[in-house]
Amino acid sequence: MTQPAVQRTDANRTGPNRIDTTRPHPARVYDWFLGGKDNYPVDEELGRQITSIDTGALRAARANRRFMQRATRRLAREAGIRQFLDIGTGIPTEPNLHQIAQSVAPDARVVYVDNDPIVLAHAEALLRGTPEGVTEYLQADARDPRSILEQARHILDFDRPIALSLIALLHFVADEDGAYELVEALVDTLAPGSCLVLSAMTADFEPENVQRGIAAYAAGGVTLVARSQAEMGGFFEGLEVMEPGIVSVADWHPELSATGERLDGDGPVSLYGAVGLKP
Ligand SMILES: C[S@@+](CC[C@H](N)C(=O)[O-])C[C@H]1O[C@@H](n2cnc3c(N)ncnc32)[C@H](O)[C@@H]1O
Repeated sequence: MTQPAVQRTDANRTGPNRIDTTRPHPARVYDWFLGGKDNYPVDEELGRQITSIDTGALRAARANRRFMQRATRRLAREAGIRQFLDIGTGIPTEPNLHQIAQSVAPDARVVYVDNDPIVLAHAEALLRGTPEGVTEYLQADARDPRSILEQARHILDFDRPIALSLIALLHFVADEDGAYELVEALVDTLAPGSCLVLSAMTADFEPENVQRGIAAYAAGGVTLVARSQAEMGGFFEGLEVMEPGIVSVADWHPELSATGERLDGDGPVSLYGAVGLKP
């Protein structure tokens, strides 16, 4: 395969990749939720506001991260997937997706994508994979799937199965900004046997909490969209949704955690998760 046109260097702090510390950023607020250190006072302030009014937000963020880990482990171990395209990667928090995949299959190839310069600035931590495998980072916007595919094709073999993960990403993309179209464009290019791993926010379980959280994000300049179970189903058109279906991320195979125990407490959290197989 030819060398990829991949950005792997530190963020350019004066160009379009400048890190704006005056406004909260979703990746950094999420990092604060996960107990990370790569956030600024504006992010912590919004994180604290959200958790004070949406009491489930913290638990949801942690349960979501563990959903990613369980789904990745299952696809590597049971479905034999060796290629992963993870869009909306976030700031590295161990274990990251490549660490899970490469612990099962050291030769796994992983491509990370995010559009936030802070994630680019931390990309080196994402690129420390196994020598047998490949781990790369692309700075790109999910709303431009063509550009992602163009670059990812240099790294992944699209004639073989790929696990495409969009974890806690699509609530940042409104329907009118092409949320469904971008998923369709990406899934269309995948070979049979590929999988879509998706999680996104819902107001189905705790509507008042979630609406308050959405309002707090909006006041911080971040627009979020909550989707119903039926709306989530729209992302899986043409795919076979694996059991147990579209469920709270906390309820998606909790027994597949590293310890085999349910780690996310009882009851649903406000993110749906599901895995679909391309027949
Ligand atoms: C809540 S974090 C989720 C991180 C990780 N996927 C996880 O679930 O642990 C959402 C990530 O999506 C990224 N993101 C939001 N909109 C995006 C877009 N249009 N294109 C690419 N990344 C985006 C943010 O920068 C952030 O890193």
